[in-house]
Amino acid sequence: MAMNLHGRHFLTLLDFSSAEIRYLLDLSEKLKADKRAGIRAKNLEGMSIALIFEKPSTRTRCAFVTACVDEGAHPEYLEGKDLRLGVKESTADVARVLGRMFDGIEFRGFAHETAEDLAKWAGVPVWNGLTDRYHPTQVLADFLTVRENFGANLRGFPFTYVGDGRNNVANSLMIGAAKTGMDFRIGAPASLHPEEALVDRCRKIAADTGGKITITDSVQSAVKGSLAIYTDVWASMGEEDKIPERIAALKAYRVTAEMMAMTGEAETIFLHCLPCFHDTSTEVGRKFPDICEATDEVFEGLQSRVFDQAENRLHTIKAVMVATLGR
Ligand code: CP
Ligand code: NVA
Repeated sequence: MAMNLHGRHFLTLLDFSSAEIRYLLDLSEKLKADKRAGIRAKNLEGMSIALIFEKPSTRTRCAFVTACVDEGAHPEYLEGKDLRLGVKESTADVARVLGRMFDGIEFRGFAHETAEDLAKWAGVPVWNGLTDRYHPTQVLADFLTVRENFGANLRGFPFTYVGDGRNNVANSLMIGAAKTGMDFRIGAPASLHPEEALVDRCRKIAADTGGKITITDSVQSAVKGSLAIYTDVWASMGEEDKIPERIAALKAYRVTAEMMAMTGEAETIFLHCLPCFHDTSTEVGRKFPDICEATDEVFEGLQSRVFDQAENRLHTIKAVMVATLGR
């Protein structure tokens, strides 16, 4: 079904209905097929897009840039340290300046309130490329990957997230799962469970969509019967000083071949937003050999879909821009 999302911001999936999320996934699928067929619709021809990054990025930045170029827009990368939002100039003032020059603004940064302030003042669509609280474009790519493996109906789909259960990715997955009616579980120690208010809100949404939200510290009950096991880094950007305490809290939640087998399902896939610690080929991985949230065996194994997810960032981010701004 066609939907009119023109002019909308994309800050959190809480702002989108189940049907709108389904529409964005359908559009992503179409844009992916079009790209494979060599079709470029140039839906953003002649537009200029500001890409603000207070935190580093590989996938999100590259997805926005390639999506802009595919659709005929000019992407302009703006480093957070140059803009200094709220340091030398208020976010409201910068937003009004950027809104006079750009047709859309992507923001990746720390405080979610900065994304909200940009949206309030810019006068053009603002898209959340990750804040401390949410990472909604990631979840569209994750759900597109699930659809590619298990079909388009996500209602009742058993999906497990293990690890830091209160980070931006976990929050956004829980919201997306509630909206799409999944049987969603978080397996995490009590100290890293999501905020109760957000869980309550998601349970209320799930009551309408046929979904279910389970928060538990038991790996066994979180993964039983699950068809997707998802994890993320144990210390998110800006939390690097917490690495030792997170290793202690989360080592029992590392995704291993044994955990994958504990689902009792042969078809279970492994998902991760990336970047992922899974071996000692990185400086951080060598400094903290126990930091890995998934074993190399799982990461490189046949059940892993992590690079499909990474590619799907492009198609889903393109869908968000085309739906909210395209001609
Ligand atoms: N998954 C993700 O957002 O990756 P980047 O931090 O590289 O953008
Ligand atoms: N939770 C991670 C996600 C990275 C894509 C972080 O915020 O660092």
